[in-house]
Amino acid sequence: MRERFRVVGEARLVGEVPVVGAKNSALKLMAVALLAEGRTILTNMPDIADVRVMAELLRRLGVTVDLDLEGGIAVLDVPGVIGRRADYELVRALRASISVLGPLVARAGEADVAIPGGDAIGSRGLDLHAAGLEALGAEVHVAHGYLVATAPRGLRGAQIRLDFPSVGATENILMAAVLARGRTTIDNVAREPEIHDIARMLTSMGARIHGAGTSRVVVDGVDVLSPTEHRVVPDRIAAGTWAFAAATTRGDVEVVGGVAEHLTSPLALLADAGCLVEQTERGFRVAVPEGTARPTAFDVATLPYPGFPTDLQPFALTYNAVADGSAMVTENLFEARFRTAQELARLGADVQVDGHHVMTHGVPLLSGAPVQSSDIRSGAALVVAGLVADGYTLVGGIHHIDRGYPSFEVALRSLGADVVREPDDEWFE
Ligand code: UD1
Repeated sequence: MRERFRVVGEARLVGEVPVVGAKNSALKLMAVALLAEGRTILTNMPDIADVRVMAELLRRLGVTVDLDLEGGIAVLDVPGVIGRRADYELVRALRASISVLGPLVARAGEADVAIPGGDAIGSRGLDLHAAGLEALGAEVHVAHGYLVATAPRGLRGAQIRLDFPSVGATENILMAAVLARGRTTIDNVAREPEIHDIARMLTSMGARIHGAGTSRVVVDGVDVLSPTEHRVVPDRIAAGTWAFAAATTRGDVEVVGGVAEHLTSPLALLADAGCLVEQTERGFRVAVPEGTARPTAFDVATLPYPGFPTDLQPFALTYNAVADGSAMVTENLFEARFRTAQELARLGADVQVDGHHVMTHGVPLLSGAPVQSSDIRSGAALVVAGLVADGYTLVGGIHHIDRGYPSFEVALRSLGADVVREPDDEWFE
């Protein structure tokens, strides 16, 4: 059944909201578990749909997965011999399932992973993953819609330089290199906190990794890894979502469990724009005290970490749509990631899309209307937009939001918003 959110506008979010483990780490850590036979325990797991899809994918590889997501726990029992195939049906639902590629080649000597829709090897998408595994000695080709990687004689260390610091490629190469023979040096790697988290878990399993969190990572391969217990790093994108939601609604929100150091660029921009941003004992707080001036719009360009995250770009757009003044948002990481701008225009925002730039001229209040989510972040950003519109806004396609935010509407209600989930009976296919 399709569902939508009914969002009552002219809201001001006030209160505290918890942030748990990062989606983009949790999914990869589940893949990391494949590298060791035995029982891995992950804690601080987010209660989101994507984790359930990843659990199903691992079950089909022979892993026994017990999820207690209300308690934030996943227990993964990995057998001595694992499967090697990730079916299209699941990969299509979860692009992050490509992260089983590295662990499967390293452990099983072969991986058949469906190619997510829209990607082709040699084009942008998976070329860096494939080139990295080839450098480690795997043979990689495409057959019947699958990326097939084989390494019958095992992987061996290599010198790898990424043309671009791809998050997914860095992770796959790292997860393969830990079991390769000899030393692997990877240059120009992605430095996201989620990658550091993967490196920490691998290290606790017995991997030998140096330089995690910097642009050069050195891995000395080991023969075998052991299962571990690991706590997932807090979700900086969820934390950033609440930071922007507080600023956009001119509210006052403490993000409990949020790590300010992982959001240096977004929080500095919000502080410069006139918001109160402060660290607290439990996380951080973003507020626009009542009676103070409307925060100002700001120019921002997305960049690999520690730059401004592309996943927060829809929230920057929504913020600018109601902030004081004109500003430009530039998307440098993904093409065609401006669906939010088109939907914001339906809500009365003054936005102009020009290539990978969006110009906004802030208006004090948007105008409630039906809009459609196209991905996790655009969906959540449209809900925030609905909070600063008059009347009410119907946000469709909320299965996208459920992929990444645990009970989004419940969290919003706890901050004083009026947001309900209801059947979307106006949807025609
Ligand atoms: C991850 C995150 C996603 C985030 C992105 C950038 C997960 C599940 N997703 O995605 O939320 O927006 O990082 O921070 O963790 N590229 C290539 N060749 C490759 C790989 C990537 O050209 O082999 C290109 C992509 O097409 C894209 C850009 O590099 O334009 C960034 O991709 P990447 O950093 O790999 O992002 P993901 O790992 O897919």
